[in-house]
Amino acid sequence: MTATTTKQSQAPEMGELSPYQTGPALTQATLVQTGVALEWQDGQQSTLPLLWLRDHCACQACRHPQTRERLYLPLEPITEPPSVALLEGHLHLNWQDGHVSAFHSGWLYQRRPESKLVSSVPNAKPWKDNFTPECVRHDDFLKPQGEKAWLTAMLRDGLALITDGPLVEEEVSRLAERIGPQRATNFGARFDVRSKPNPNNAAYTAVGLPLHIDLPNWRHPPDIQLLYCLQNGASGGESLFADGARVVEALRQQDPKALAILSETPIDFRFQDESHDISMRAPVVTLDSAGNLVEMRLNNWIRDALHLPVEQMDAWYSAYALLWRLFHSEAHQLEFTLRPGQMVAFDNRRVLHGRREFDPNSGARHLQGTYLDRDMLASRLRVLARQD
Ligand code: OGA
Ligand code: ZN
Ligand code: ZN
Repeated sequence: MTATTTKQSQAPEMGELSPYQTGPALTQATLVQTGVALEWQDGQQSTLPLLWLRDHCACQACRHPQTRERLYLPLEPITEPPSVALLEGHLHLNWQDGHVSAFHSGWLYQRRPESKLVSSVPNAKPWKDNFTPECVRHDDFLKPQGEKAWLTAMLRDGLALITDGPLVEEEVSRLAERIGPQRATNFGARFDVRSKPNPNNAAYTAVGLPLHIDLPNWRHPPDIQLLYCLQNGASGGESLFADGARVVEALRQQDPKALAILSETPIDFRFQDESHDISMRAPVVTLDSAGNLVEMRLNNWIRDALHLPVEQMDAWYSAYALLWRLFHSEAHQLEFTLRPGQMVAFDNRRVLHGRREFDPNSGARHLQGTYLDRDMLASRLRVLARQD
């Protein structure tokens, strides 16, 4: 065995699948009043409290060797300091009770409190003028680079396309299940969008659908919607999209009071058919404490009776009208015709979608759809990033 391989086999194993092994070695570790003061080869310094270090011990008693989940419960302060040593640039602690902990220097480096959390998952970025969606060819999507490009665009822009796919039923489910389990709803795990006799939903008619999100009447509306086009020979039926993150910013500029009304007033959404009555009360816009969009709930045809104090009703209606007009203004709408073999996917809780009316007598229009959880997209991206 060469010296290098011996070294590597002794490096502490942190029970972590994302790479951390390439970080700099530690050059100093000293016991101080507030914990253990560390310095790495590149000059970075951190002091980590004793309880933090004890809590992050990755030995088989503190972190389950198969599940990698935490076993240690940090309820007691550490009063007796450990002895501290550096071995081959990694931190070793011998606690007073006999427990031994070893920390890889690169793992500690990634987690030092002063470092910015780095993530392979991008933040949402509102659309700009002339936004053009990422298009990934179906055969590229089946390879890691293409899938990564698609996932990144989905999480950043809230919308992306797959093109040149096969014209086979259920392809949408196969693509979805590369990423995660399909999220089932009262319309099934996988649904067909075409005009049907006895429709129980406006989407299953030929009427135009103004911009909306699907299922705001659920406590947790589906995160990601996939619509795979198998036939689109009818005249009309163009797809429409608008970015909620962008439109909420436009409303804030134009009329902050209207945004306050829409984000602070819960209203009711409801779907009913012979076997269901699914209802939720929530505001049209949910913002976080920094004012960023958390989710949109806009779907005019499954909005239920407006139950508000009478004196709030007119103001709510005028705020709603303003938001509606902003969404449907040309500046904010993206319009294109889905071609057979194309799949559009979008963040249903951020990007509104709709379609123009079509004439079912002029040709067939058939989309197949399903939903996914956003967590599964982010998870895939992290898993793919392990190979970077
Ligand atoms: C839907 C929907 C759009 C379309 O099924 O929820 O909005 O293009 N469909 O038919
Ligand atoms: Zn341990
Ligand atoms: Zn819809």
